[in-house]
Amino acid sequence: MSAIVVEANPVQLEQPELPNAEPCVVVIFGATGDLTKRKLMPALCRLTDQGCLESVRILGVGRSPMSDADFQSLVHDALKESEEIDHLDDETWREFSNRLHYMSGELDVDTTYQQVAEHLEELAKEGASRNHLFYLATPPPLFSTIVKHLGAAGLNKEDGHWSRLIIEKPFGRDLESAQALNATVSEVFKESQIYRIDHYLGKDTVQNILVFRFGNSMFEPIWNRNYVDYVEITAAESLGVGGRAGYYEGAGALRDMVANHLLQLLTLTAMEPPVAFDADNVREEKVQVLRSIRRMKPEQIAERTVRAQYGPGTIDGEKVKGYKEEDGVAPDSITETYAAIEFQISNWRWSGVPFYVRTGKRLARHLTEIAVHLKRTPQALFARTPTDEIEPNVIVLRIQPNEGITVAVGAKRPGFEMLTNTVHMNFCYQTAFGVESPDAYEMLLLDVMQGEATLFIRGDEAEAQWRLITPIEEAWANQNLKELPVYAVGSDGPAEADDLPIGNGHHWRKLKDSHAGCD
Ligand code: BG6
Repeated sequence: MSAIVVEANPVQLEQPELPNAEPCVVVIFGATGDLTKRKLMPALCRLTDQGCLESVRILGVGRSPMSDADFQSLVHDALKESEEIDHLDDETWREFSNRLHYMSGELDVDTTYQQVAEHLEELAKEGASRNHLFYLATPPPLFSTIVKHLGAAGLNKEDGHWSRLIIEKPFGRDLESAQALNATVSEVFKESQIYRIDHYLGKDTVQNILVFRFGNSMFEPIWNRNYVDYVEITAAESLGVGGRAGYYEGAGALRDMVANHLLQLLTLTAMEPPVAFDADNVREEKVQVLRSIRRMKPEQIAERTVRAQYGPGTIDGEKVKGYKEEDGVAPDSITETYAAIEFQISNWRWSGVPFYVRTGKRLARHLTEIAVHLKRTPQALFARTPTDEIEPNVIVLRIQPNEGITVAVGAKRPGFEMLTNTVHMNFCYQTAFGVESPDAYEMLLLDVMQGEATLFIRGDEAEAQWRLITPIEEAWANQNLKELPVYAVGSDGPAEADDLPIGNGHHWRKLKDSHAGCD
């Protein structure tokens, strides 16, 4: 295979200006937790630096007692360590730290929320906005408790100002708990006040799936069962569970990645064109796709799913632990770190086209992509020439890293004989635009502050996701396995996954060879 680069016209853009957020106070429950340190504070700091948070204050709520100054110094350390902040200059820090406030309290007692209300009142007297954005950045078992207490304290009320709630994934751990969480939350907040975050939707390249499909007339006519043979969606990670074993042991790859990020990529790839790009219409079409996916019977689950765990090995000459040797992992754990599933969408557009999705930790490389494999052409035209079979076209939407789009096409090799090669037409984000995309959390936080809900998960959408995943979890649990298949770190996953794509000529793309032109 050779690569020919057909450059997209480079457009030299200025770094795009982000809008100014509506004035508000962001109240973060779980203010000293991992998510706050790793994602929320860097995103809020960068937004401040770009001048988007002029009238925004941040109130952290956590269990450990500390002063505003102590909290500020904790956040300062987190920003210094953050990979998302290249350089924290004194002026940005001054600007950001002036917005940071803190209060401590147990999250399951009324008084804490009365104190939150009093604190917000004091801030309002000092000139802060009365719009409130409550961010649940705590462990999920606390979500319902916090929401009930917010309601009891009247903090859900919108009386000339707004009150919004952000819930982090996971939204429940199965269908029943997701329904229970939705029921509790919707007793306190209206759906229009609730923003369920799946950070994949904040990625520019994920949003570009819709622009690519519906903003160009050349792809949509072939985007269906008449032309598409199968679709492959991959989210491979080279890192292991790191320090998150406590959470991951109870989740596994299916709950952690497939139930949300991968199903979101699938819905955007498969959905019908919405009548408008707005929250109601986009989300409605996404839910329709989820509802059209055939739920599998236990015997089908055995055939169409694969799970496995990474075993010890070496990466770049360095010894790497297997999952069971990671800190905090039970030695007899059967939590999967790899999952591959074949989904079938039973609708007019996609009937008979398998959507294979796979995700895993400690794989050969960090790579998220959607590969749409088109059907083979009739080969009759070249039957009497020495040409090899021309490979079918593949359209690859590379989500990360080295974001871009590649179309693999057959081309005649120079020379006397009729020989062909697969070549690649590449569009590379970095080369074409020359600017960085804002981070997903920055985009999503700004959206919430603007009241824009298109890129958030609706309550029925979260339940529709679990309706597909829970039967798989249950069937897996009933298999009562003592051990899972093992794959070596740095590999493409377990050998068992090779048998999953059962269609004629269907196979997973090799992670190392996967080509997106920008590599
Ligand atoms: C998170 C998962 O939601 O997404 C992690 O909990 C995973 O396990 C992460 O590593 C991947 O996100 P990204 O943006 O790095 O692809």
